[in-house]
Amino acid sequence: MEKVRVGLIGLGFMGCTHYSIYEGLSAATVTAVCDCEECRRLGDLSMVKANIGEANNQLHFREQGVKVYASAFDLVADPEVDVVDICCPTPDHAKYAVAALRAGKHVFVEKPCARTLEQAERICAAARQSPGFLNFGMCVRAWPEYRYAYERFQAGDFGALRSATFRRLSPDVDGNAWQNWYMDARRSGGALLDLHLHDTDEVVYFFGRPKAVTSAGANITSQGGIDHVVTIYHYDDGTLVEAEGSWGAAHGTPFEMTFQLICEKATVRLMSEGFKIYWKDGRVEAPQVEASTGWQKELEYFVECVRQGVKPDRYQSLESVLDAFKVVLAEQQSVDEGSRRVEVRY
Ligand SMILES: NC(=O)c1ccc[n+]([C@@H]2O[C@H](COP(=O)([O-])OP(=O)(O)OC[C@H]3O[C@@H](n4cnc5c(N)ncnc54)[C@H](O)[C@@H]3O)[C@@H](O)[C@H]2O)c1
Repeated sequence: MEKVRVGLIGLGFMGCTHYSIYEGLSAATVTAVCDCEECRRLGDLSMVKANIGEANNQLHFREQGVKVYASAFDLVADPEVDVVDICCPTPDHAKYAVAALRAGKHVFVEKPCARTLEQAERICAAARQSPGFLNFGMCVRAWPEYRYAYERFQAGDFGALRSATFRRLSPDVDGNAWQNWYMDARRSGGALLDLHLHDTDEVVYFFGRPKAVTSAGANITSQGGIDHVVTIYHYDDGTLVEAEGSWGAAHGTPFEMTFQLICEKATVRLMSEGFKIYWKDGRVEAPQVEASTGWQKELEYFVECVRQGVKPDRYQSLESVLDAFKVVLAEQQSVDEGSRRVEVRY
């Protein structure tokens, strides 16, 4: 396959981000886009907003002769689409992913993989029976600083973990999205599912399955959602692992994503001073990582896998993505039950 032909569903913040990334990849070309809103299909994306960086809403798909669909099922049926990339709101991920996998397409689904565990499991079941590859957009696994720390931690360079902290603090997303769907917890799952999932997923990815969680949460801006959450993840060996996620801060507050791993031989930090490793013997290392994003790295990798016909396995197994989803459900239960410790059901 010379160029991988991509069909993109949803022209909001993530759809625009993905479109711009594909434009820069020599191995990919966007052949079709789909959106349920006519003005967006006509090319007006001026309403698209981001909570991290600036949204790139200057797409030229109409001038570029890209096919434009109102129905995602029509895009899925297009024989000139190899990869269906799903960037619409979370509740619709499953129906389009399952349809695309049944049609034998390769599928990239933005995170969260789905709104419910039942939907997520349905997508994974369809993938197991499809010749198409499936990848969920757990972009932090591919984010250069996190990836670097992950590889060296797994290689044992830092020694055993003593404690870990992951933090993701976003300005308020009220008014950012199509139909303001983030503010309706029935659709988005609140900041707990939509934003904090990234760090729950890092916890599971770095350290394996926590046995139980204890979470506290606050409702600040959304209807019925947990907009700010703090969780302790319980492991058998008693290592302290915690994460915090919020989209409760005032508009205009800078977005922040940080972590700190205190290990036997070193402390690894992505914090205000940049990305640093503080060794116990006093050395301070500033690793040089690629100036890129996890969004770029995960799409580059997926496109290359599809082009070469090699099943993607660098960033995830479907089971590990489902595990993180199950941990978030336990976090929700813990908040709902007054910060009771909740065992995670895998
Ligand atoms: N990986 C990340 O860091 C990250 C960041 C932001 C959002 N996301 C995820 O990406 C997905 C999209 O989020 P967003 O911020 O781009 O949302 P958005 O509201 O900005 O955009 C959604 C787009 O989908 C369109 N749409 C809605 N329903 C549709 C349907 N049934 N068929 C076709 N088009 C439809 C809307 O018109 C809109 O253009 C969500 O699952 C979100 O959680 C991931």
